[in-house]
Amino acid sequence: MTTTSSWLQDAIFYEIYPQSFYDTNRDGIGDLPGIIEKLDYIQVLGVNAIWLNPCFESPFQDAGYDVSDYYRVAPRYGTNDDLKRLFDEARRRGIRVLLDLVPGHTSHLHPWFQASCRYQRNEYTDWYIWTDSGWTWEVPGLRLVGGYAERDGSYVTNFFYSQPALNYGFANPDPCHPWQQPVDAPGPQAVRRELRKIMAFWLDMGCSGFRVDMAGSLVKNDPGWRETAALWQEVRAWLDLEYPEAALVAEWSNPPVSIGAGFHMDFLLGFDSAGYQSLARKTSTGGKGSDPYGCSFFDPAGRGNIRQFVDEYQSHYEATKDQGLICLITGNHDIVPRLGDGRANDDMALYYLFLMTMPGAPFIYYGDEIGMRSLVGLPGKEGALGRAGARTPMQWNGGPNAGFSTAPAETLYLPIDPDPRRPNVADQEDDTASLLNRVRRLSALRHAHPALQAAGGFQVVYAEWGRYPFIYRRSAGDETILVAINPAAYPVEVSLPNLSTNATIETLYGLADPFTRSDDRWTIKMPGVSGGAYRFAYRLIE
Ligand code: NOJ
Repeated sequence: MTTTSSWLQDAIFYEIYPQSFYDTNRDGIGDLPGIIEKLDYIQVLGVNAIWLNPCFESPFQDAGYDVSDYYRVAPRYGTNDDLKRLFDEARRRGIRVLLDLVPGHTSHLHPWFQASCRYQRNEYTDWYIWTDSGWTWEVPGLRLVGGYAERDGSYVTNFFYSQPALNYGFANPDPCHPWQQPVDAPGPQAVRRELRKIMAFWLDMGCSGFRVDMAGSLVKNDPGWRETAALWQEVRAWLDLEYPEAALVAEWSNPPVSIGAGFHMDFLLGFDSAGYQSLARKTSTGGKGSDPYGCSFFDPAGRGNIRQFVDEYQSHYEATKDQGLICLITGNHDIVPRLGDGRANDDMALYYLFLMTMPGAPFIYYGDEIGMRSLVGLPGKEGALGRAGARTPMQWNGGPNAGFSTAPAETLYLPIDPDPRRPNVADQEDDTASLLNRVRRLSALRHAHPALQAAGGFQVVYAEWGRYPFIYRRSAGDETILVAINPAAYPVEVSLPNLSTNATIETLYGLADPFTRSDDRWTIKMPGVSGGAYRFAYRLIE
């Protein structure tokens, strides 16, 4: 892979929702000094890159995805100096930090937007998308808010009403709506320049790149994302020149498009990837109605369908494998339920075996490494709405507030999981069979074998419609590793006619030695809920 920063080849990411990670100043909200204190834990997990959700000044009407100052850390998390210290301390431990860049919209309380609302023309008048009448409330394809500003116009919002869209212009401005500006108009060009300025500011301070929020949303009325892609290609060309080690991961869920647009990586996420959904996001009781495989593949019910994932993944993979990485995740701050909901540790461990042995870059959402569960019935804290359940405080130990904070429990950002059996780090540290220690072993396995890393070869060996297990081969140089995963509670046996029998097999992880050789083929026999990784050493034919 020539066009991707070399450190990404062996990157394992950890997503931190700063509000909920570790509180050191007793205000009930996590902070940057708290993350710094936990860097050793992150390092031992085998993680070498962090994605930090937005930590900039904000009124927090969407948990910080509504920025009111891109150049300043929100005081509740600390200071810019704390963030610099985080970059430096992380780097000392071989960990890079990606910030969350929200390029498409600001908070409506951002001074730029407040200036843009004014009746008098000013520097920011065209930084946002305004119609030419405050009475225009509906234009197909756009979400408008009217009646807010003293200027006569409605503004376009990207998400909530409190997130007005910055003006990157329209790919095809509608002549009936002269307020739609082309991408090369002065307003959109000024916004582009500002975007780079923000990125350079944090890169100069020591961050290693950005996760880019709603990366495909910038240029409006842009069929096929032609102009949005051109914008990101321009950013990428600049990065390659000025910050060649920096990495960009898109929230786009369309790897062929986003990676073609210059991103180093993209996630597969629920909103655009039925394949991703089919892995672990369906229920055991699914399978009704028009979706005969409504059950997750990673579910002991064993009624999932790995082909839903494989078909989609392979087409993305073939289209992008030499240019960028597809990121598989355990979950994120938008996804309820968490991986741990309704899954035993053995089930989750198989998902981790998959995650740590697939191409691309794996992302662990904080707390998923110990199997944290999401909470139901929480109020929609800071615009979380139904997402709050996956954003509760990290469970560090069995003490008060699960060791997250010494503030009074009622002042915490979100409540701690009240379940007395809730998992915590301290208990799992001491148990070699814990999920935490299995995740550590699996990340160590990935680091030890280039075949398992981002650019190692990937071939599907066994993935049958509605059947278990899932078997694939990873390879690099002269190393070949076979990964076999059976999340179903029932035993399975399959023969593998396409694998040379002229090999010796070494178990690297998991279920020991499940292969038998008969004349011309290998057969693998796996009990329920089992999996492993196996090195095939080929012998020279005499
Ligand atoms: C995607 C982020 O992940 C989500 O949390 C946020 O609400 C929206 N983008 C809007 O920025």
